[in-house]
Amino acid sequence: MNIQDFIRDISDFPKPGILFKDITPLLANHEALVSCADQLSSFCPKDVKIDKVIGIESRGFIIGAMIAERLGAGFVPVRKKGKLPYTVKSRSYGLEYGEDTLEIHTDAIVPGEHVLIHDDVLATGGTAKAVCDLVTELGGKVVQCNFIMQLDFLKGKDKLDVPIQSLLTYS
Ligand code: PRP
Ligand code: MG
Repeated sequence: MNIQDFIRDISDFPKPGILFKDITPLLANHEALVSCADQLSSFCPKDVKIDKVIGIESRGFIIGAMIAERLGAGFVPVRKKGKLPYTVKSRSYGLEYGEDTLEIHTDAIVPGEHVLIHDDVLATGGTAKAVCDLVTELGGKVVQCNFIMQLDFLKGKDKLDVPIQSLLTYS
């Protein structure tokens, strides 16, 4: 099964000049969806027990929760500003197109926990870096960031000082 066949390129979305990677065909195909979650779970280091999987709003929620189930870990949503009801830690970051703020509940990670961060795309890396910083501030240890795809030409991996795994790489 070639996961790449289920990712659709959309030109000029959400802004002119952006080539958007649409994962909805992947989500809509049961075999592709399961294969994606299975493969990303298998990339996780075997010598450490993952306590929490973080899914980044919104496109990181779906497969992030599937990975958590496969690893026997809890799931933690990192959400955009103002969406989480309890006390939060916040971090602002620059995006490929714009700026945003991400938040995590202050009790979502217990100090010392091993954390896997999942998102659909690694682009400029601002999003994943902000989430790594939030986990570290809460005393967690980021074991890996994994992505369905990384867009290497945007150099996101240069921003991250943790191990990275992706199913697909676009150069
Ligand atoms: C997109 C994508 C990643 C992030 C990657 O999310 O889903 O989360 O951008 O960009 P970066 O590596 O340059 O930071 P977006 O903020 O558009 O929100 P969405 O997932 O809710 O669509
Ligand atoms: Mg996103």
